[in-house]
Amino acid sequence: MNKTAITAAQILPVLADRWSPRSYDTNHEVTSHELLSILEAARWAPSANNSQPWRFSVLKRGDALHTAVAAEGLSGFNQAWAPNASVLIVVSIKTLTADGKENHSAPYDAGLAVANLVTQAHELGLHAHQIGGFIPEAIKSILELDEDLRPIVVVAVGKVAPAEQLEGPAYEREIQPRTRFELDEIVLHGKP
Ligand SMILES: Cc1cc2nc3c(=O)[nH]c(=O)nc-3n(C[C@H](O)[C@H](O)[C@H](O)COP(=O)(O)O)c2cc1C
Repeated sequence: MNKTAITAAQILPVLADRWSPRSYDTNHEVTSHELLSILEAARWAPSANNSQPWRFSVLKRGDALHTAVAAEGLSGFNQAWAPNASVLIVVSIKTLTADGKENHSAPYDAGLAVANLVTQAHELGLHAHQIGGFIPEAIKSILELDEDLRPIVVVAVGKVAPAEQLEGPAYEREIQPRTRFELDEIVLHGKP
């Protein structure tokens, strides 16, 4: 099963090799050092005005908050696979700036932090899978998040397991090669 990106020019190996599995080792535990490393990678992302509007809730498999989010916070198909990962990291954004105005760049900034986080996870030999299919109100309530915090994504992080652990369409998706639009389709002006 080759998941490495096919690219027209060389890119960083970690960027080419990173992918989002759904089959996770249910016995694996992420170490404190690994968690520190991926959170530091996120922390050092750039943000507009250095506002750093991201907040992280690290829920380890087996902990009460993990159990609650796994049971009530994930939508549909995500409930079947994501709780098997070693941790679920809920990423929330501060929706307001220091002077109480809406922080329009917060989602963009948080995306940069999560990109760092998932890339660092892969560099450590772990895998990460971002999840937009979650129930924000349920997660907000379970984690007792402040009013101005909005959960923006959940990231499953853990050790990848054989695809055969999955069944049906999930298995089929797991073994597919990764695809992207061609550069011709996404570079509107100035394609090299
Ligand atoms: C913001 C965001 C939300 C996503 N939501 C889900 C989701 O709810 N369930 C899921 O299985 N995958 C989800 N994904 C994973 C994408 O489907 C995946 O990243 C994409 O197909 C590219 O595959 P790759 O990461 O292996 O390159 C999400 C990814 C992102 C960035």
